[in-house]
Amino acid sequence: MLLSDGAKLVPANVNAAPEDGPVAMAITMLTQLTLQAELCKALEHLADVLPARLHQAQVHRLIQTLPSVLAHLHRYEEGVVHPYLIRAAPSSARGLDRTLTRLCQEHVEDRAFAEELAETLTQYMRLPNRADANRIGYMLRGFFEGLRRHIAFEREHVLPLLSGRATTGGRQR
Ligand SMILES: [Fe+2]
Repeated sequence: MLLSDGAKLVPANVNAAPEDGPVAMAITMLTQLTLQAELCKALEHLADVLPARLHQAQVHRLIQTLPSVLAHLHRYEEGVVHPYLIRAAPSSARGLDRTLTRLCQEHVEDRAFAEELAETLTQYMRLPNRADANRIGYMLRGFFEGLRRHIAFEREHVLPLLSGRATTGGRQR
């Protein structure tokens, strides 16, 4: 399943601020995580159909969308959610700094991987061949599997922190 042409990819002006409260922030984050999960589905579909002929417009749309969706949520998490969690955390919440630092490192890695993937897919669309298709399929799976683990961790551990119901934990990548 690729993204439909009518999909609203990055909702404008919907980011809740700390003064809107943690639940509103959790809803913003969940909305963006759900969008990322949809992108993972689209990328999985791409990996499944390669090396069959791809729908040019849909792949281009995916390539253009991926970096901006990642950057949008990363900015929100790192600029709004993480500072809020640090401020709100009880002194007993040991490991939170370390967990958030690790999530930020994963963001950097995911953005770099997404850029590389977009570049590789762009080249492939210009000159498709079976050997590249196998390599791209492998890249796609590496990317969306890692991103899905990141999403799952944030759903299970970061979103509940916003409502004060969870502890930090570790993600094995
Ligand atoms: Fe994240």
